[in-house]
Amino acid sequence: MTQNPDQVLIFDTTLRDGEQSPGCSMTQPEKLRVARALAELGVDVIEAGFPAASRGDFDAVSAIAREIAGPIVCGLARCNRDDIELVAKALQHAPRRRIHVFLATSAIHREHKLNMAKEEIVRIAVEGVKIARDLCADVEFSPEDASRTELEFLAQVVEAVIDAGATTVNIPDTVGYTVPDEFGELFRYLRQNVRGIERARLSVHCHDDLGMAVANSLTAVVAGARQIECTVNGIGERAGNCSLEEVVMALKTRETFFNLRTNVQSTRLYPTSRLVSNIVGMPIPRNKAIVGENAFAHESGIHQHGMLKHHSTYEIMRPESVGLSRSSLVLGKHSGRHAFRERVQQLGFELDELEFNRVFAEFKALADKKKELFDGDIEALVLRAEGAASGPWTLEDLQTIAGGGAPARAAVKLRHADGRLVERGVTGDGPVDAAVKAIETATGIDVALRKFELRSVSAGEDAQGEAIVYVEYNERTYRGSSVSTDIVESSARAFLEVVNRIELARKAGARTRDERTGGARIAQAAV
Ligand code: KIV
Ligand code: ZN
Repeated sequence: MTQNPDQVLIFDTTLRDGEQSPGCSMTQPEKLRVARALAELGVDVIEAGFPAASRGDFDAVSAIAREIAGPIVCGLARCNRDDIELVAKALQHAPRRRIHVFLATSAIHREHKLNMAKEEIVRIAVEGVKIARDLCADVEFSPEDASRTELEFLAQVVEAVIDAGATTVNIPDTVGYTVPDEFGELFRYLRQNVRGIERARLSVHCHDDLGMAVANSLTAVVAGARQIECTVNGIGERAGNCSLEEVVMALKTRETFFNLRTNVQSTRLYPTSRLVSNIVGMPIPRNKAIVGENAFAHESGIHQHGMLKHHSTYEIMRPESVGLSRSSLVLGKHSGRHAFRERVQQLGFELDELEFNRVFAEFKALADKKKELFDGDIEALVLRAEGAASGPWTLEDLQTIAGGGAPARAAVKLRHADGRLVERGVTGDGPVDAAVKAIETATGIDVALRKFELRSVSAGEDAQGEAIVYVEYNERTYRGSSVSTDIVESSARAFLEVVNRIELARKAGARTRDERTGGARIAQAAV
């Protein structure tokens, strides 16, 4: 195939492999927001989901396929006709589309998961690719657990799927087991031993179980891969996937070493990272490379002295190059539309007039409660503007009484989309517990609370608190988050978001399928 030898395609799988990790599931409107941000970021391929996993996944992939122009929209399928046809159907309106089929090849998966012999694996992989090629000109094949597959057999599978019409062959390190030297060797082996390898684009897909996903991906690229599969903030199964922002900035910052380019607009990295973090409710560690709060901070005297002389002494990339605009500017209730708009734009957000007016009104309301508004407050306002899962329940009123030795009491008024107004008052072990119990009683949804986190989104005594709630319901993890200057209110709203997600999931109707002809984690409802 003809390909620019210096170009590395960025295949983003935040909406599929990222979304697959517990607590990271997204609603359809949230997936659309992320897909728009990814298109703006300049990724080449968006893996939008796994349509066979659930009705919700199918609908989300279809919606993204209809709306997103620019990047290729891709859907994942196991090597069976039903899955593949479902992907083709979901992608039918995409201007540019790809079907991604996968089948595990390692001895461990063959014996323990699939119970299939090598010949059967080759036959099913080839059949899957052929079915997909009949429906789509762009077909990717992934031998799941490739890094633990016997090299000769892997080469045999890769050769067979290229002969069958695969245009991209992706080599996953599914369990994050490989190390850079070994993985580089694997790519060199395939390039030397697979007849017709030049007819397909080689791709790499790494998990981060040993913290080497980015290093392994870069080594694969040095050894000939020309597509990297990754996720924003590295979210994904277990320890996550190769982090998009890290791998892109490694290629960019060390361009003279790699001599390779991507189409990613690096100044969009920071806002995209914040958006995804906010939507999946997974805070970014302060010391996270590229997008962490401390990534460009200099504390020690020696470093500060060096920075004052010249930034290159301790900085290998400029914060602006990743879209981080630092400001000591503090906004307050006297700040006008102009100053607010400028700050929103400096933080990397583009709002249309309607959205801007809504966020500005919320900014004014917040400024009445809180003296100084920092970047974290403004980000939270913009990101939450349409972020919460819009399920059937809305909180109309919350009253709590606590202290004085008596049990805390909460009363809620909840409105259901069908018009019902439900009021409940209960006691609990503190005001947060009482508020959560009141919502449980009012909605009739009984969950097991697994984790409750509270953090401040900005500075100051009157800082806003973000509550993130994780619960288990029907063997699935659900998450909700909310921000307010009142932590009881943010906790109650976060919990209500969980209830709404559960209601949406019930409506979407998760479908479960057996894994004999497939692999990884399936049966994830899109919530
Ligand atoms: O990790 C993995 O093997 C995968 C494949 C489906 C590509 O996610
Ligand atoms: Zn994966």
